[in-house]
Amino acid sequence: MAHTIFLTDEEKRLLDGGDGLVAQKCMQYLVEVCQVSGAERLIDLDGTGDFHSPMTSMAAHYEFPIEELEKIVAQGAHFKIPTFANKAPFYAQAPIHGWEKCNLCAQQDPAQCQSDPEFHKIAMRDEWYELYRKMGMLTSHSCANYMHATYLPTIGQHCSWNESSAVPYCNAVLGARSNIDGSFATCYLGKAAYYDMHITENRYATVLVKTERLIKSDIEWDVFGFAVGEDAGVHVPVLTGTGKPTTTQFMKLNSAMNTGGAVRMYHIPGSTPEAPTLEAALGGKQPKRETMVGERELKKAYDTLNYRTGDDVDMVYLGCPHLTVVDLMLLARKLEGKKLRIPLWIMTAPWLYEVARSQGYLKIYEDAGAHVLTGTCLAAMGAVPDGVKRLAVDSAKQSYYITGCYPDDDNRLEVCYGTTDDCIDSAVTGKWRGEWR
Ligand code: F3S
Repeated sequence: MAHTIFLTDEEKRLLDGGDGLVAQKCMQYLVEVCQVSGAERLIDLDGTGDFHSPMTSMAAHYEFPIEELEKIVAQGAHFKIPTFANKAPFYAQAPIHGWEKCNLCAQQDPAQCQSDPEFHKIAMRDEWYELYRKMGMLTSHSCANYMHATYLPTIGQHCSWNESSAVPYCNAVLGARSNIDGSFATCYLGKAAYYDMHITENRYATVLVKTERLIKSDIEWDVFGFAVGEDAGVHVPVLTGTGKPTTTQFMKLNSAMNTGGAVRMYHIPGSTPEAPTLEAALGGKQPKRETMVGERELKKAYDTLNYRTGDDVDMVYLGCPHLTVVDLMLLARKLEGKKLRIPLWIMTAPWLYEVARSQGYLKIYEDAGAHVLTGTCLAAMGAVPDGVKRLAVDSAKQSYYITGCYPDDDNRLEVCYGTTDDCIDSAVTGKWRGEWR
C-alpha cells in the first residue's frame, strides 16, 4: 500500500500543474521516487547535481517533448542547483574527442560505427544540450565530472548525483549527501526524495572491515574495493587497517566497491570526514558484523577480474573512472619515449582533453602510438573494436562490465586485469606479464 507523502503548498501547486507541464512532470516523477523509496517527503537541495542526458534521466512516462523545454527556456528557466552532465552524452555513447580513430561498431547494429563522420554527426545532435546550457548546465560529460568541475559540495550539503565512483565520493570523501538519483527533475526543481544517504542515521557504519595487508597501491585499493563491495553489499562499511588513499585511489575504491556491491557510503577512520574515529564511524554503536578481507579474499577478487586463457593481448584500455589531470601527467611520464605494439586507448573528460594538449601530454601519447578519447568508455559503448579477443585493463569496474558485454560462450571477451604498469608493458610487448603480487 502506498504510504503518505507530505508535500508543501508550493510542491502541491507544482504537482497540480500550477507552473506548467515540465514542472508538473518533474513533481510527478519525484513523488513516484518517494513512493518506491519509502521517502515521506522531499528535501530542498543545497549542493550540486548531475544527470545522464541528453534526455531527462526520469522514467520514460515522465519525459516531455523538446518544445516544452524550449518554452520554459524562452521564459528564462534555470536549474536550481549547479548542474553537470554525466557521461553517456548524445546517441550511442559516442566519444566527443578521438572518434575519428575509434574503429568500433555497435554489437547489435554494425552500421553504427563511431569513426563514420555521418554517424558521428547524428550522434552529436545537440538540441537538448543547447537548451540545458541556457538553463545553466555545465556540459562536463564525464562519469568523474566531480574531478573536473572544480566546484564541489561541502560537508552536509544535499546533492543529487549519479555514478559508481561519484556517489561514494560525495558521501564518504566530501561528507556531502547523495543517493544515486540525479535527474532533470532533481536539478530543475532543486529537490530530491528524502531517504537513505540524506538521513544521518543511515550514514553510520554497520559492517566493520579488517584487512591483513596495508592497502596502499592503486591496484590494492581497486581489488580491495571490489572484495569489500562483494562482502558489504548495500551496507555501510568502515574500513580499518588500510593506508590513506590518494584522490585517484578513492576513485578506484569507490567504483570497485559499487561494482562488487552497491556501497554508497563508507568510512576510513582518520581519512574520511565523518570518521574522525572508529567510534564516530559506527555512531557509538557496535557493528552488526565484522569481516576480514584478507590475502585469500584479495587473491580471489583479483582472479575474478582477470579472466584469460592466454598471454597475447590485442588492445589496452586505461581511464576507468575517467583519468584526472594528475593521472594524465603520470601516464605521460610512463609513456614518454615508448613505442607501442598494440592499440592503447586512454579515456578522460572532454574538458581535460585541452589541458592534456596544452601540457604536451597528447603529443607524448600520440608519439608512443596511444589514442585519447573523451566523454564515454568501452563499457558504456558496449563493445571493443573488431578482432579484439583479449583486452588489458587496470580497472575492476571496466573489467567487470566489459566482459558482461560479451555473455555468449562463442563470443567471449577475455580480460587481463592488473596495474597500470602491467597494462603499459603489455601495450609495448603485446604480452601479459601481470600477476597478483
Ligand atoms: Fe566511468 Fe565507464 Fe568506468 S562510466 S567509471 S569509465 S565503466
